[in-house]
Amino acid sequence: MKIVTIGSGYVGLVTSACFCEFGHDVVNVDHDLIKIDLLSKGEIPIYEPGLDHLVSQGIKSKRLEFKTKLSYETLSGASVIMIAVGTPMSSSGHADLSFVMNAAREIALNLKDYAVIVTKSTVPIGTSDKIADLIERTRPDLKKGVDFDVASNPEFLREGSAISDFMRPDRVVIGVESSRSRGILGELYRPLYLIETPILFTDIKTSELIKYASNAFLATKIAFINQMADLCECVGANVVDVAKGVGLDGRIGKKFLHVSPGYGGSCFPKDTTALLRLSQDLNVNLSIVHEVVESNTRRKEQMAERVVKALDERDINLKNAVIGLLGITFKPNTDDLRDAPSLTIISKLREKGISVRVYDPIYNAYDYSKAKEYEALNDVVWASSWEEAVKESDALMILTEWNEFRALDLPKVRLLLSKKKDRKPLFFDFRNIYSSLPMEEFDYRCLGKQIASKSDSYEENQKVA
Ligand code: UDX
Repeated sequence: MKIVTIGSGYVGLVTSACFCEFGHDVVNVDHDLIKIDLLSKGEIPIYEPGLDHLVSQGIKSKRLEFKTKLSYETLSGASVIMIAVGTPMSSSGHADLSFVMNAAREIALNLKDYAVIVTKSTVPIGTSDKIADLIERTRPDLKKGVDFDVASNPEFLREGSAISDFMRPDRVVIGVESSRSRGILGELYRPLYLIETPILFTDIKTSELIKYASNAFLATKIAFINQMADLCECVGANVVDVAKGVGLDGRIGKKFLHVSPGYGGSCFPKDTTALLRLSQDLNVNLSIVHEVVESNTRRKEQMAERVVKALDERDINLKNAVIGLLGITFKPNTDDLRDAPSLTIISKLREKGISVRVYDPIYNAYDYSKAKEYEALNDVVWASSWEEAVKESDALMILTEWNEFRALDLPKVRLLLSKKKDRKPLFFDFRNIYSSLPMEEFDYRCLGKQIASKSDSYEENQKVA
């Protein structure tokens, strides 16, 4: 089957490479000349484990092609045209649909044979109808249901494991409105029938909403466990075990209950905000999602406040203080910094005059041009190893659970950290990597496990009451 995908960003590229791996013929189109030039040579502009291999295999097999323009020729014979362009957050918080609509216009101008026009990008409910309208207005000779159909097929890919998420998904959701398009999209995903992947066919609006509802629900789980972590710290309970105890209930599930400095990335923050804007426009109360968004924003700020408070308690002059920060990406195995908690936390620390020395496995001292786009990172000091970041710092702070940070040489960390008289060095583990180890050598602070100081403790308060 011939497929044309539009957009060679993260989703477009993974989708193209994986459909090619399924055996389909794929043409990936993007206006970005530099990107397409790189891709045609098998070079990948983003970091995603396994993607380079799939792309070069695809090119070698001649079933994967990259082009900078949609044309009659490109669309000719394509059964499926997939829109996988970005839907960034606009200044109002709504999803910006301009890239999607531009793609739809170009499809209209070049459409020759019947094709199913599928939206893979995350779009507000009702967007597929708008795409169909635009196509019919641009080309009055084309009729939906005769010359083309529209459909929705949201992606649920996690950065860092996108290839396996695509190849072995929990489910595939497809929103259609004709049996012809249902047949074609069923055929597109036929390779997944072999591994018995549930394929859920729905109407288009339902499919569009499933994507937002999934991300909002996952964000809610994270925000929930993060609030439970705060409570655990006050009562002296252990959030890791709370998450385990709660998650073993099959109705709840154990995933997405890892305490954290807040969720980030290209999807959760953008999609929860877009969902809220949509609900406000329609006057529907989504107070739960609203609170999730607010609490996640507060969470990131509170992480910085914890660090400032601990330095203050030690009478460390903030203007002279240095934090050795390990990990700035929003999660491991990606170079993505979009809405990473590190950005908020670093800004807050910098506002107080605290210096931040950063090490991240993907951004080392010699290659951080991409990171420079982010204002928060403009005046950090870049280290080329974790040791360099930590050396003579007033505190170590882990923000991303990269494998490299899971087995740090702790005696070495102890030696490297600044020695302030009799005090143990501060170690902020905001991913709870070391929370099950004895960390007596450090003033160790993780999340949701700290035993409260006596006067603040739950037991003391109970006695007073
Ligand atoms: C997410 C969705 O999982 C995916 O289905 C969707 O298509 C795109 O958005 P991604 O952003 O790549 O994928 O990362 P994910 O692994 O979901 O993590 C998102 C954020 O939540 C990260 O900042 C991560 O650290 C945080 N997180 C995740 C937690 O804080 N706790 C958890 O238990 C899980």
